[in-house]
Amino acid sequence: MADGCEPVFHKGQRTTNKGRVSNAYLQCIEDGCRRRQDPRRDGHACAACGGLLEVLYDSLRLDPEKLRYQWHQRRLSGEPIDRSGVWRFRELIPFVEPAHRIISLSEGSTPLVGTRRAGWWAGPVHLTIKHQGNNPTGSFKDLGMTASITRADSRGVRMVACASTGNTSSSMAAYAARAGMKALVFVPYKQISAAKLAQALDFGAIVIEVGDTFDEAFRLLREIAPEIGLHLVNSVNPFRIEGQKTIVAEMMEQRAWRPPDYIVVPGGNLGNASAVGKGLRELKEFGFIEKVPRVVVVQAAGASPFYKTLATGSRELIPVENPRTEATAIRIGTPANWRKARRVLEWTGGFCESVTDEEIFEAKKVLAEDGVGAEPASVSTIAGVRKLVRAGKIERHADVVAILTGNQLKDTEYIMRHRAESEDNAQRLRVEPTLEALRQALEKPLAVTA
Ligand code: F0G
Repeated sequence: MADGCEPVFHKGQRTTNKGRVSNAYLQCIEDGCRRRQDPRRDGHACAACGGLLEVLYDSLRLDPEKLRYQWHQRRLSGEPIDRSGVWRFRELIPFVEPAHRIISLSEGSTPLVGTRRAGWWAGPVHLTIKHQGNNPTGSFKDLGMTASITRADSRGVRMVACASTGNTSSSMAAYAARAGMKALVFVPYKQISAAKLAQALDFGAIVIEVGDTFDEAFRLLREIAPEIGLHLVNSVNPFRIEGQKTIVAEMMEQRAWRPPDYIVVPGGNLGNASAVGKGLRELKEFGFIEKVPRVVVVQAAGASPFYKTLATGSRELIPVENPRTEATAIRIGTPANWRKARRVLEWTGGFCESVTDEEIFEAKKVLAEDGVGAEPASVSTIAGVRKLVRAGKIERHADVVAILTGNQLKDTEYIMRHRAESEDNAQRLRVEPTLEALRQALEKPLAVTA
């Protein structure tokens, strides 16, 4: 099968454990619990204490030298499994049995792009961006989704569900369609961008618009899910994190295995920060990298529960009741993965910052001057770096990778609002169809260029 739905290991790639790829299991992350879960159930909360779960692997041994070479070689392969930037690193995520098919859309393999203006503006720092907007559905969610849908498929799940600020729903709808599953999406009413809603509809998902915030939609979904047997693929699903963590391997490979000083991500439900941290932890444990970059999370000021929690030193989350930001992707007041993300910041020596919507817009404008577009939530990273350099928390000339999580076209309403509809904006001119009118209209723009 050369269509992205094919067995995980093939052509003699079968590995350890008597034909099984590995012994993946789920374990509670809470220090006081660490309970290993019943392997027959793929849950997303600990059966004993309700804590978050993570995927771990018994007796997994990886040879960095051999694998670096093998992963590199796979880039020359035409096989769909090797073209996927997630499954190319399949030794890091061996949780499906060898014969089972993967559900892939050639996700990952996204570019690492240098910036000049944005790096200067934000620091100066050596700023490169890992553009996850280049994924099949336009966001980083595809990395986690290929993993969680493949896992669900291997367990015979026929319907998946998520609550979303838009990107998870687009991604889930696409991968569910590919797997022949039904997709059920919960989104806050009129609070997600039209493009994201359109994607979910286009892929045939059933869209339930419920509540005013992501938090409300997510709470209702979590409450009703057990009652009607729904399989959740939000980032509390630990297999999502497995897919998303491969971004770190791909990034390191693109950098010839030289870790940057900082990796910066926007923070919403905090799955991404958790995944980046898990990826780093494993690469370090297996000896792929020596140095561990600090992970920095940036939130929008009006939706910054994690920032507030860490800034006040609280051991419990300080939720934001009514989160507000134009970066709708990260408009979240009660991030489900905050405990995982806190561990990542503690372990890597990282920190959290918050930026205003005005700062996000400034960053978006500067990045556009480098010819790079991204949705507002993504560029909060660059605004955050600028603030942290000014505060002396990130050194000038530091080596920084910002993960841009979503494509520019994910939220064109935002661009139209800010770029084309403001009164003093001379970018969009409506001109009568005569040469005279054109000459007049172009006088000012041409004068500026000259
Ligand atoms: N950036 C974008 C573009 C997002 O869509 C999200 C999350 C984030 C950053 C934050 O990532 O939640 O892992 O901390 N979007 C989710 C969604 C919530 O439903 O699409 P996170």
